[in-house]
Amino acid sequence: MGSSVYIETFGCQMNVADTERAATRLREAGYSLESSAEEADVILFNTCSVRARAEQRVFTRVRDIRLLRRKGHAPLVGLMGCVAQLEGASLFDQEQSVDLVVGTRATDRLPELIERALSGEERTLDLGERGEGDSWEVSPVERHSPYVAFVPIIEGCNKFCSYCIVPFSRGRERSRPAREIIGDILRLRAEGFREVQLIGQNVNSYRPKGLDGLENFAGATPFSRLLRAMAATGMERVKFTTSFPRDFHADIVAALDEHENLCNWVHLPVQSGNDRILRAMRRGYKVLDYLRRVEEIKGARRRLSLTSDIIVGFPGESAEEFLDTMSLVERCQYDGLYIFKYSERKGTPAAAMADDVSEEEKTARFLALERLQRKVQGRIYQDYVGREVEVLVEGESAKSAADMTGHSTCQKVVNFPGTAALKGSTVRVRITEAKTNSLYGEMVGSVARSLK
Ligand code: 5AD
Ligand code: SF4
Repeated sequence: MGSSVYIETFGCQMNVADTERAATRLREAGYSLESSAEEADVILFNTCSVRARAEQRVFTRVRDIRLLRRKGHAPLVGLMGCVAQLEGASLFDQEQSVDLVVGTRATDRLPELIERALSGEERTLDLGERGEGDSWEVSPVERHSPYVAFVPIIEGCNKFCSYCIVPFSRGRERSRPAREIIGDILRLRAEGFREVQLIGQNVNSYRPKGLDGLENFAGATPFSRLLRAMAATGMERVKFTTSFPRDFHADIVAALDEHENLCNWVHLPVQSGNDRILRAMRRGYKVLDYLRRVEEIKGARRRLSLTSDIIVGFPGESAEEFLDTMSLVERCQYDGLYIFKYSERKGTPAAAMADDVSEEEKTARFLALERLQRKVQGRIYQDYVGREVEVLVEGESAKSAADMTGHSTCQKVVNFPGTAALKGSTVRVRITEAKTNSLYGEMVGSVARSLK
């Protein structure tokens, strides 16, 4: 009988997508996949290194495994993902219980790497690049949801923002051929998926080697051509994340205006509202450039929901500079905001600057921004009351057995009274109540849309 593997995933959608691919490859090779660590012969942690906290969580989990060992169960332990790529062989010294370290581009080789480790090889390590023939195929059963699929279109990052570890953990930007992506979407549609999210560190920096597959789709950039090609697949809902401000071309908004199945949501991280800080972050744009993009987004025919990321307490950020971020947040009226305290990452250019904003001050700025966003968001959410949104029903609500939950096309969590029979369908919900981070309403009908 083949060995069993349990994979636990930390971090972003790219890691979720890598776990799905890893699981597909492993099952093809004869492994079975477990849903808990207790029974598995092999435990893999797919790790995240974007902030120190994310990294620490993995090490806590690795130490938990020692308890299993004490109970007489001795699984093989492997680290994959960003921490594995960055720390490499030193992880074997740091954590005695780690047997296997697999970098971000070695996912396809997991079956043979595990095989080697299981047959007694010590310190099995692969930090290599992807192979030529590596496949992006994911078996439907391995997807994190039966209705929503993540489809990577670009990997890695060339931006080198001064605080960010991603260009080191995920390497240079590589765009997948458009024809392959189109094939994925058509297959997902045939498999019954209702929504795809095109993912990448910077989706709008998409630049494949050739334009194969995009010949019949116009657009000012390869990404806006890809969006039009995605619309033409007839996939019911297409979302994409993350967009990089400097590469955000107005033609993206034009494409969303043209095609209803391209969803009304843009995630456009600003990081700071102050030009000096943006320069120190090496973001490559100024506040005014960013606001121009926001104007384009707000000027769309449909209301496009806008979300963002912000880092507070970047090295040298003064109280006044932080107030510029507060003003920008007030001005942009985000539908959602992810706020992070600056976390020094070894090896990044910002790590050479003094991390001089105290922890207390970072917390104070975080809370001030959160309070402001809550006010802004409260008004925006309140505005939905009385309106109808289209919701893809993803499952039962965690809070109430009588309610179902899902996301709107504008990526808001929407709950409403309903039964499990609705799972996987798209329904119209009239909003009756705005909560802090979700909307509540009643179902008023189903959505039957025919797409060309
Ligand atoms: N410290 C704090 N936040 C960070 N992010 C990336 N690197 C860091 C860091 N060193 C945030 C950015 C990015 C999001 C995914 O994580 O806001 O957009
Ligand atoms: Fe990191 Fe900047 Fe690349 Fe985003 S664009 S992954 S923040 S380096």
